[in-house]
Amino acid sequence: MKKIKIRVPATSANLGPGYDCMGLALGLYSDFTFEESESLIIEGCPEEFRNEDNLVVKAFKKAYEYYNERAVSKGTSQISAPALKIMTESAVPVARGLGSSATCTVAGVLAAQVFLDDPFTDPELLMLCTELEGHPDNAAPCLFGGLTASFMEDGMPHLASFDCRDDWKFVTVIPDYEVKTSEARKVVKQDIKLSDGVYSVSHALCMVKALETGDGSLLGYACRDVLHEPYRRKLIKDYDKIRSVSLDSGADAFFISGSGSTMIALTRNEEVAENIRSALCNAFPNFDILILGVCKEGAVVV
Ligand code: HSE
Repeated sequence: MKKIKIRVPATSANLGPGYDCMGLALGLYSDFTFEESESLIIEGCPEEFRNEDNLVVKAFKKAYEYYNERAVSKGTSQISAPALKIMTESAVPVARGLGSSATCTVAGVLAAQVFLDDPFTDPELLMLCTELEGHPDNAAPCLFGGLTASFMEDGMPHLASFDCRDDWKFVTVIPDYEVKTSEARKVVKQDIKLSDGVYSVSHALCMVKALETGDGSLLGYACRDVLHEPYRRKLIKDYDKIRSVSLDSGADAFFISGSGSTMIALTRNEEVAENIRSALCNAFPNFDILILGVCKEGAVVV
């Protein structure tokens, strides 16, 4: 009976101006253990997720379906997905903008990759996860680690990885309330002005460079966004206060993580990071406030 453990990182999508295309893996993890079983057993998550609709199960099965479709076209043998016992130990909160759904899809697809003896290429792994996620910006850094930009073209995701200095401290402010991605996507405008397109491209490019070089001043300007944050900040009732406390405490940059409700303040200075955390802990004692680093390696079989 096969038994494997997969560790997947939390991810922060968008990074301000990179709506639906930029993402970064953070040093906060979920572990998923997969074991062949007589029937489906899921442990370590709320009762409502312990069934065939579980995203990890769907991702595992989707990868097998894709494998079998390919087998049919190549005339090779098909393989049925085994029933699984899945155990989850997750530090990544649900519906907070830290890529919890990507942790599930990536874990399920990677488990199939291991059970099937590595049949999929990296682009195929990303394609399978993206089909479940709808956009590749969490799945890409979750799979491959670090700072990524990705887009869909001709039905396939395409990916670029960038250097991100490892002394950046991501002060991650996790409120005690959710923002559902489906709701947060409804408030974003579908049509934009050319000037907003230019603003976004220029800021996203400079954001990537600032994360690579450690230029906090550039980062402070580059993190500004016109596509989603102006609308989504209204869904996070404490956004204005958290932003001003973070910037007043010395953060170089501030943005909403994914679709929220988590927000991230950035600095390379350890003392500034501690100051931001302590100021926010005082103001919001019920929030989780973590100082995270970038996760360079992405999802791993441990
Ligand atoms: N890019 C996505 C969004 C990330 O902002 O809606 C959340 O899944």
